[in-house]
Amino acid sequence: METIQTDVVIIGAGGAGLRAAIALAEADPGLRIALVSKVYPMRSHTCAAEGGAAGVVKPDDSLEQHFNDTVGGGDWLTDQDAVELFINEAPKELVQLEHWGCPWSREDNGSVAVRPFGGMKIKRTWFAADKTGFHLLHTLFQTSLRFDNIQRFDEYFTTDLLVADGRVQGCTAIEMRSGMMHQFQAKAVIICSGGASRMFPFTTNGSIKTGDGTALAYRAGAPVKDMEFVQYHPTGLPGTGILLTEGCRGEGGVLRNKDGYRYLQDYGMGPETPIGEPVLKTMELGPRDRLSQAFWHEQKKGKTIETQWGDCVYLDLTHLGEARIKERLPFVHDLAKSYLGVDMITDMVPIRPVVHYMMGGIHTDINGAAGLPGLFAAGECACVSINGANRLGSNSLTELLVFGRRAAESAVAYINGGDKTVDAGAANDRAEASRARITALFQKSGGGETTSGIRREMTESMESGAGIYRDEESLKATCGKIAELRRRYNDIELHDKSNVFNTDLFQILELGSMLDLAETVAASALARQESRGSHQRLDFTERDDSRFLKHSMAHYQGEGPPRIDYLDVTITKSPPGVRDYSGDHK
Ligand code: FUM
Repeated sequence: METIQTDVVIIGAGGAGLRAAIALAEADPGLRIALVSKVYPMRSHTCAAEGGAAGVVKPDDSLEQHFNDTVGGGDWLTDQDAVELFINEAPKELVQLEHWGCPWSREDNGSVAVRPFGGMKIKRTWFAADKTGFHLLHTLFQTSLRFDNIQRFDEYFTTDLLVADGRVQGCTAIEMRSGMMHQFQAKAVIICSGGASRMFPFTTNGSIKTGDGTALAYRAGAPVKDMEFVQYHPTGLPGTGILLTEGCRGEGGVLRNKDGYRYLQDYGMGPETPIGEPVLKTMELGPRDRLSQAFWHEQKKGKTIETQWGDCVYLDLTHLGEARIKERLPFVHDLAKSYLGVDMITDMVPIRPVVHYMMGGIHTDINGAAGLPGLFAAGECACVSINGANRLGSNSLTELLVFGRRAAESAVAYINGGDKTVDAGAANDRAEASRARITALFQKSGGGETTSGIRREMTESMESGAGIYRDEESLKATCGKIAELRRRYNDIELHDKSNVFNTDLFQILELGSMLDLAETVAASALARQESRGSHQRLDFTERDDSRFLKHSMAHYQGEGPPRIDYLDVTITKSPPGVRDYSGDHK
């Protein structure tokens, strides 16, 4: 097995991974940085982000308002010290991106344009038309090319963390085009591998988002936090699940049920707003959890539209006009036309809620340090707790910038804070154990289970048991099903025994990650006997701060279900209150 000696390994080369790599390279030009990813950087899922990135920039906005929107939007499960730091550092990161060449959309006077976004009670979302993620990722990627000490390992699939002497000292990864396993020996590892929404059947997430990095950390002993909080985005394209950005509603789009009625006014989202004006009231700009829950109720009332892809409601942009749609929303205009044959300039688009984001992830402190020495995490795979029980749209692109950089800076401080020499012998033993696990998969025959079969049963069970609304019965059924699938997973046979781009192998490994994490979602949701943000229980309909103003922490227990315990939420200045979306946006 080839050994690569380096200082820091970053797993994942999307927005958080690239931002971390740049920060490391800037901090110390002598630092050896290995950027390991199962896809080329520009194929990372950050590329699919559409609507924008939040950060206070306009004189009528304030850090305090961004703080309040984020904390209330997260139903007070956010750690307020982390939010404070985030909202302070957000504008600096967005300006930094501008300096690196990100083509932010502009106002007529040349200043940066901002648009309204769900749950943000004032316009503060910077955007680059509706391809913000593409431009942000491209900006970071091209900036990373300036640094000789960032060495990329594109299309390397990470299989294990190397934990020795109680600290993380690297990882193993398979070079996908040759099938060769490599070990990366390093003083620190930063996981930036994105979310895991592919454990659900209908999602905006690309097929790469299988939670690999989160599962690596979890299995190595780092707890995962708040996994029961799964975000449904209210406007997905039926059939494919492709995102139609919240920017559609930010630009003035409205939601209608089968009678043409703007139903959100019945769900505490404020009075009906005039059509055709820039949207200045809540209505369609309510937070994602509430909007997705409203769809569920409309469906129960029989007010949704039956389509060949299931029940939908309409997104109506027809009043915006061709010029505005083509300037601000060219990508989604194209998507609706290509995938549904609907021209949103003249016709309403059928849409439905779709799984979009995991609020939970690897537990980190405000500096990105995870629960094991030498391990750091940032971006969607991490849970630094700025999103609480419901993330506000456009906070996540900024989050991956702020915390990608902070994780890198704290990795540098960790490395410089004492002897971190790699124990090469111990690391090598761990790497050999990882290789033996993969070799065993090649040698096994029989078993009768298939990756696709188990994956389908997993996704169906997650949707039916742990979807927008859950209860004890549905969650118990899902916990039981996932436990059964984890057992049956051991009987999957690897059919392709070749070495070159063995997608059969990688899909088995991805499924293993998703099953481990799916179990943490269902178990944490079952244990949380309250309703908060995106976690809505039909049998415990109220928020219960006396028992559950706490983070759920799931700890890996091998073949058994996770052990769940709790961690206090950090409240600095905003005591739990009522989430009120009946009033005005500014
Ligand atoms: O709707 C969107 O453009 C999504 C943005 C986000 O998830 O932050």
